[in-house]
Amino acid sequence: MRILAIETSCDETAIAVLEGLGSRGKGQEKFKVLSNIVLSQIKIHKPFGGVVPNLAKREHQKNLPIVLKRALKESGISRLKIDAIAVTQPALWMGINFAQELAQNWKKPLITVNHLEGHIYASWLSERIPEFPLLALIVSGGHTELVLMKKHLDYKILGETLDDAAGESFDKVAKMLKLGYPGGPEISKLAEKYLPPSPLLGKERVLFPRPMINSPNLDFSFSGLKTSVLYFLRENPSANKKAVAAEFQQAVIDVLIKKTEKAIKKYEPKSLVVGGGVSANKALRSSLEILIKKHNLEIRNSKLEILLYLSPIWLTGDNATMIAVAAYFKMLGKKFANPKKVKAQGNLKLG
Ligand code: KG4
Ligand code: ZN
Repeated sequence: MRILAIETSCDETAIAVLEGLGSRGKGQEKFKVLSNIVLSQIKIHKPFGGVVPNLAKREHQKNLPIVLKRALKESGISRLKIDAIAVTQPALWMGINFAQELAQNWKKPLITVNHLEGHIYASWLSERIPEFPLLALIVSGGHTELVLMKKHLDYKILGETLDDAAGESFDKVAKMLKLGYPGGPEISKLAEKYLPPSPLLGKERVLFPRPMINSPNLDFSFSGLKTSVLYFLRENPSANKKAVAAEFQQAVIDVLIKKTEKAIKKYEPKSLVVGGGVSANKALRSSLEILIKKHNLEIRNSKLEILLYLSPIWLTGDNATMIAVAAYFKMLGKKFANPKKVKAQGNLKLG
């Protein structure tokens, strides 16, 4: 089964061709990525310090046919061998239009995939396949969510950000520190170079709040953290940028880890799946590994052990391969879209 997927939800024009090789035994689906083209618009948006919607539209429009050609060529198969077209929703209308036209012209069924489903399903390209029930932590520029899945395509949102998304807060703090866009990788690079002063020297560390870390629910809030960095920088204009980056990053990680731990204790999933742009963050990845190791040691019962599935780094950011993986499972369930009824906009919710 071969799927051609299109992803145009933000500043990347991406098309991938994925082949599903079937499942070896129970639920062990194997995939082969035939092509994965991501044309980033970062350079175009960089001077503006963020994504400019009109520029993004123009670029998608211009790039879609080019990216399609490349994706097909690289896949080494003819369009006749494609079984379905998948497209991310919500997306800008040209992505949707493009997919609708393609599906009609090529006479293929159309499948819509929520962008967040894609980030979750990126982990199906790990060496092992996640098992249900699973807990997913999605951390991107637009979302911070904890999602419970008891089976394929079945989502229950356990918690989400009430204001800024985790990635958004990285981008905003990076802007305050006059670092480039997107801010996440910049902050992460700077933070890696920071060595916190030893308390023995009597030097105080910069410390930021961990909003909602002890709240009884599984929701998040990052806007207050961002504001406290802003106030700190106003009062300390010559503060060490490495320290600010590292301490800000640690505050975000602490909250993400604490809430994930809480969700694990409450829902006892078999797998923890982590995806979205921020999941490329090295410090976050190692904190998650430590969390799972600690949890598995604590429970001392191999039956309840959790396996961690971090999105492969090359699939953490937006890409069309992850959309194709989610579409594969929709295709198995014959969940096709009515090409005439697919809308471009609207804030689609999981679940
Ligand atoms: O999933 P994604 O590529 O696009 C959205 O769906 O939003 O996520 C983009 C976000 C940006 O906010 C970016 O700054 C952040 O992911 N990001 C990172 C890192 N790499 C990308 N944040 C922290 N550390 C990173 N290494
Ligand atoms: Zn994304």
